[in-house]
Amino acid sequence: MHRDVMKVKEKKDRYKVCYMAGDDSGFDMMEGALLVLEAMDLPVEWVRADLGWCMWERSVKKFGEGDPRCNTVPPETVEAIKNTDATLMAAITSKAGVKGFKSAILQIRQLFDLYINLRPAKTLPGIGTPLKGDPKIDIVMFRENTEDLYAAVEFYPLPAEQFDMHPGMERFKKCSEVATSWRVFSKEGCERIIRAAFEYAKATGRKTVHCCNKANVIRQTDGMMKRLFLEIGKEYEQYGIKAIEENADATAMWLIKNPQDYSVVVASNVFGDILSDEASQLTGGLGFAPSGNIGETAALFEPSSGSVPKYAHRYRVNPSGMLMTSKMMLEYLGLEKEGAKIEKAIGEVLVENAPGTLTYDVLRDFRGDSDWEKNAASTLDMAAAIAAKINPSFTGKTLEAAKAKVHEMCAWQEDKLVGFN
Ligand code: IPM
Ligand code: MG
Repeated sequence: MHRDVMKVKEKKDRYKVCYMAGDDSGFDMMEGALLVLEAMDLPVEWVRADLGWCMWERSVKKFGEGDPRCNTVPPETVEAIKNTDATLMAAITSKAGVKGFKSAILQIRQLFDLYINLRPAKTLPGIGTPLKGDPKIDIVMFRENTEDLYAAVEFYPLPAEQFDMHPGMERFKKCSEVATSWRVFSKEGCERIIRAAFEYAKATGRKTVHCCNKANVIRQTDGMMKRLFLEIGKEYEQYGIKAIEENADATAMWLIKNPQDYSVVVASNVFGDILSDEASQLTGGLGFAPSGNIGETAALFEPSSGSVPKYAHRYRVNPSGMLMTSKMMLEYLGLEKEGAKIEKAIGEVLVENAPGTLTYDVLRDFRGDSDWEKNAASTLDMAAAIAAKINPSFTGKTLEAAKAKVHEMCAWQEDKLVGFN
């Protein structure tokens, strides 16, 4: 019997959690989230690690440009993830066209074989959808996280033998430049993500699992995924779960027309990347969207939003995505009740709509406030409002002390960073 991969390996009274702010506004988000978590008296010991652009710069400084040891993920961070029960990450900055630069999150997904990218999209109270009639949306997407075009098997320029590998390559022989990126699927890779989706449906009483594919065109990879999905789906009929396979382009359309028809969704890596952004946009956008990268040996939780460099260290960004991410992590640790408190408190603050409690994106995008820039609350003010809903005594000196503590925990200055020391 396999262990339940959606839960921490070992139940404990106290957990070690690795936190990584990343870059730019990632520090602001993390500070806001930690402030709320401080209000909750959680059985958690925090372990700091750093990664992203800040570590790339530091490694270039240390080893020199072009040195193979230059990386966005320092060895200290890999160790920290290994030696803790779960990881909470904020947001990292990527820069295009930097030679040797590899995305930190893509490396960690591969390194720890975090094959499930769990992406829920659920309507929050007080946040409408861009759709007519504000349908109730509650989708949980299981995106495969290690294979497909993300296997990074790519060729440019193309080795000569690839032109002779397949008759379909004939017409490319006369082209001036040709590149290929292999779309690699394995039976093991498909099976484990499909099973994770069905097991989740079974455990949570959900009645449908959709598999989004393009087996009608991409016959080998998606054909295999579709076949395995339907086979495995038969095992779950006895639990009243219906397996529905459909073309991913149709899913993209139906998600906008009838999002309430979707519950659990399983998709390969690239389709899941795209469809999960679409689903999150239907439920408040990336500022609210959490995600989890989960595997047998580790789990890393990150919001879907970026690091918003232009607002770095200005406390402009919404803490909600980071907090919904923390909620997912608490569920993983078996602290479901604590997680539920966070979601409830965010909903209360959004509905209450009190002055000085909502960040610019909420005022601009959902409240239509033309003075959003002036009226926007800071990340920490919104976080404090959420924290007060969970713990009404989290005010005055207690709040100030917690603020000072999390500020220190999220110090972003060069001499505070951990990694390549
Ligand atoms: C995501 C992101 C990443 C991905 C990028 C930042 C590498 O889009 O987590 O969805 O493509 O998976
Ligand atoms: Mg994406």
